[in-house]
Amino acid sequence: MRRKLVVANRKMHGSIAENAHFITGLLAGTADAGDADYAVCLPHPYHFQAQTLLSDSPIGWGGQTMSRYAYGAHTGSVSASMLLELGCQYVIIGHSERRKAGYESDAASGERFQAATEAGLIPIFCMGETLEEFESGMTVDVIIRQLNAVLKQVGVHGLAKGIIAYEPIWAIGTGKAATPEHAQCILSFLRGHVELLNEEVADKIRILYGGSVNAKNAKQLFSMPDIDGGLVGGASLNTDEFIEICRIANSLSCSTISVEQI
Ligand code: PGA
Repeated sequence: MRRKLVVANRKMHGSIAENAHFITGLLAGTADAGDADYAVCLPHPYHFQAQTLLSDSPIGWGGQTMSRYAYGAHTGSVSASMLLELGCQYVIIGHSERRKAGYESDAASGERFQAATEAGLIPIFCMGETLEEFESGMTVDVIIRQLNAVLKQVGVHGLAKGIIAYEPIWAIGTGKAATPEHAQCILSFLRGHVELLNEEVADKIRILYGGSVNAKNAKQLFSMPDIDGGLVGGASLNTDEFIEICRIANSLSCSTISVEQI
């Protein structure tokens, strides 16, 4: 059974004081919720703070992007080894806000994914369609193109070292999450696509949903069989709400375990 995973994408928010409030709150709020996994993706300057506060905890942390290069004259970039040195376990790759700004193409996302896994980081690979693409029925074409760029670079066994996040762009930051049925349909399609290449990888790989996940819709979304958790932006800025989302993931993991045990 796949463990649920809830990841906070804090984007370009926070300060040392706010992060401390968020992280210490999260530690306390999930201390008795050990059946799911949690992680926090902070802006780069704050990884040291995550390392200080989270090192002895089960909560992971990670970057929001990284360079595809190992080192060199790339002003403003950070490498996988730098994230690792600050204890990061995860890195978000291919987020639509970075794709839109022209920083991450399909091919570059594939290269980043490869650089991350080769260094030992777990990439959270984001994909998703615009509203226009959604309305013209192109969702599947877009996400398969995005996924295939990574598969071309690393193959299905390389993909298995990461996590997939389906984040329809029309749902990000809009308060209009995809319906659980739509998200399930797309995630099941993605899993099916991976299954054509390797059944075991398809069964094991965690696929998250992202886009206006909040404490009200998390239960319905995370109850779907192919939704293994969420990548949470806006709602991660409210510590109590994010803890609630983590606890929902935990309770769904518990209930699945108890059904299996019966
Ligand atoms: P949102 O952001 O939860 O605010 O929609 C999700 C994301 O961009 O990862």
